Amino acid sequence: MRKPLVAGNWKMYKTVAEARHLVSEMVPGLQAIESVEKVLCPPFTAMLAVRALLEGTDIGLGAQNLHWETSGAYTGEISPLMLAELCQYVIIGHSERRAYFGEVDDLVNRKIRAALMHGLIPIMCVGETLEEFEAGITEEVIDRQIRQGLARMELGDKIGQQGQSPMAIAYEPVWAIGTGKAATALGANAVVANVIRPVLTELFGEEFASSTRVLYGGSVKPENAADFFNQDDIDGALVGGASLIATDFISITRAAAI
Ligand code: PGA
Repeated sequence: MRKPLVAGNWKMYKTVAEARHLVSEMVPGLQAIESVEKVLCPPFTAMLAVRALLEGTDIGLGAQNLHWETSGAYTGEISPLMLAELCQYVIIGHSERRAYFGEVDDLVNRKIRAALMHGLIPIMCVGETLEEFEAGITEEVIDRQIRQGLARMELGDKIGQQGQSPMAIAYEPVWAIGTGKAATALGANAVVANVIRPVLTELFGEEFASSTRVLYGGSVKPENAADFFNQDDIDGALVGGASLIATDFISITRAAAI
């Protein structure tokens, strides 16, 4: 049984003061939902302040990116060692990073290894563009992103003692992100069931594939969240826009409760 996971990706929104305000609005509502793992991913600058407010709660903290080296002359970058002091999760390979910052599969691979090496839980994002979707090559694209993003790793050995997977995956069709045009729940579930889990099984075995949470992302709102969570292979959501509105993020999380 996979525990649902709902993560809020704040992207480049919220100053420290705004972040504090949003978190205080969210904490009571989120804490009341015990059967869901909840994660907030603010910008780096707000992480310390958010971390202080989350202390003593069951709400996790995540970053939106990291560098693959532990330290070094990489101006402007943040290392996994630095993040491991602050948070438990890290989003890797988000489509906005792939589109605007040249993050190709090999880079995603390096970042996932670095995160795992420092005990962070990667939330690895995959998804096809509109062009790829229209060309009918979604399955090929997702297959490649998973195989290359997770190449040369022995993840089957990294399953925890309670059978928990060391990472999560977010399936986010690029055409559904921030557009208000979500994928259909059936369509998203089919990609997870027919591509993501079979490839994970082939690469790392059945236990890894069946214990890894696969989230859906792309225009998740309180109105459509339950449709996704009702699908057998979708275990939660990576939420962008709606994670910036306390009541919306709480409703989405509540919809994931089992
Ligand atoms: P959205 O973003 O919910 O605003 O579509 C999702 C994401 O980018 O992770």
